[in-house]
Amino acid sequence: MIKMSFLEKNLPLFFTIFFLFFNSSIAANAIYNIQNYGAKSNGKIDSSKAFLSAWSAACASTSPATIYVPKGNYMLKNAYFQGEKCKSKAITLRIDGAILAPSDYNVIGNKENWIKFDRVNGVSIIGGTLDGQGSSLWACKNSGNNCPQGPMGLTFSNSSNIDISGLTSKNSQMFHILVDNCDNVKLQGVKVSAPGNSPNTDGIHVQYSSRVTIKNSRIGTGDDCISIGPGTSNLWIENIACGPGHGISIGSLGWELQEPGVQDVTVKTVTFTGTQNGLRVKTWARSSNGFVNNILFQHIVMSNVQNPIIIDQNYCPNNENCPHQGSGVKISDIKYQDIHGTSATEVAVKFECSKKYPCSGISLEDVNLSYRDQPSEASCANAGGRASGFQKPNSCL
Ligand SMILES: *[C@@H]1O[C@H](CO)[C@@H](O)[C@H](O)[C@H]1NC(C)=O
Ligand SMILES: *[C@@H]1O[C@H](CO)[C@@H](O)[C@H](O)[C@H]1NC(C)=O
Repeated sequence: MIKMSFLEKNLPLFFTIFFLFFNSSIAANAIYNIQNYGAKSNGKIDSSKAFLSAWSAACASTSPATIYVPKGNYMLKNAYFQGEKCKSKAITLRIDGAILAPSDYNVIGNKENWIKFDRVNGVSIIGGTLDGQGSSLWACKNSGNNCPQGPMGLTFSNSSNIDISGLTSKNSQMFHILVDNCDNVKLQGVKVSAPGNSPNTDGIHVQYSSRVTIKNSRIGTGDDCISIGPGTSNLWIENIACGPGHGISIGSLGWELQEPGVQDVTVKTVTFTGTQNGLRVKTWARSSNGFVNNILFQHIVMSNVQNPIIIDQNYCPNNENCPHQGSGVKISDIKYQDIHGTSATEVAVKFECSKKYPCSGISLEDVNLSYRDQPSEASCANAGGRASGFQKPNSCL
């Protein structure tokens, strides 16, 4: 008689266990299709109630939950997704369609947010398009009329463990994506697009947040591609195409007297095309205890950028609210490494640091910025540090 191995003898049992396990893992990831909650895909009927009901159901689930947005256009008035009481620690919003803001900007009016997640933990957004339909509001603003401010597009506040991938955000009325008071946020393969003349349409703004990663994304807009506000630490930005827009900006900082600093930021492998700035640090010329420390800008390509490298600590539009003060923001340890391409103006490198607190530890390593086949220039005020490797323009440090 042939002896059966342990595995052979127990094969039926293994199958049963496998089957039960497989089944229960399907059942565990409940799917909440917003159409089952009354959402309409014609882009005209307000589907906010359906989204909020699907959110409540997913949030109450004790296991991972997916809210599914099928193909089609869904109109959404302002919707706030509250996570404080959620049982589920893993909610995925999977979008195959597009979510549209009302085309009449007065419907949302002066509310600060369009789609906002507050106090959520473990939320992912996969795919989809958010369309802020901002053009009529921008036209109102650009005509100098009295218009509402308009809402931020997508906001995460007071939240942690957020994963956004493959999302397109376009034509937001204000900033496209805001990360405020969050920890551990990943944005990958995100596409932001709005016209170069659309006011205040920053791509991604991060503030009061730690451990945020922005990778493999393409951002074209009318304001900063990425802006970095007070209280940001451990921010990683990699493989970004920026333009049109105002570049990547740390700031504006130093408006408040008491303000947390910005530290440990890496910006690498970024291409700027036709932007107003490339790498910018900007602070108000006001008293403040804020700071900027330990920043690395590495492997950057500039293509026809007006201010490729700039630190501006004299920011004070119309000379209002800055009573002849130097900026109190202390800037130290900023490294620029392998920055090359073309400047659209003669001054390719500009350090205008605070007369009260000069910049220290600025390091320029292998910089090659040309200006219309002419020598480009660098200008320094109150800036200390060192240059090494190839330097064009000649360093003024
Ligand atoms: C985050 O929570 C604080 C209170 O803990 C609150 O004041 C603040 O408004 C919240 N942030 C946002 C953007 O909702
Ligand atoms: C600097 O850039 C110019 C123009 O792109 C290029 O011809 C030159 O080889 C570069 N020099 C170095 C040292 O990389």
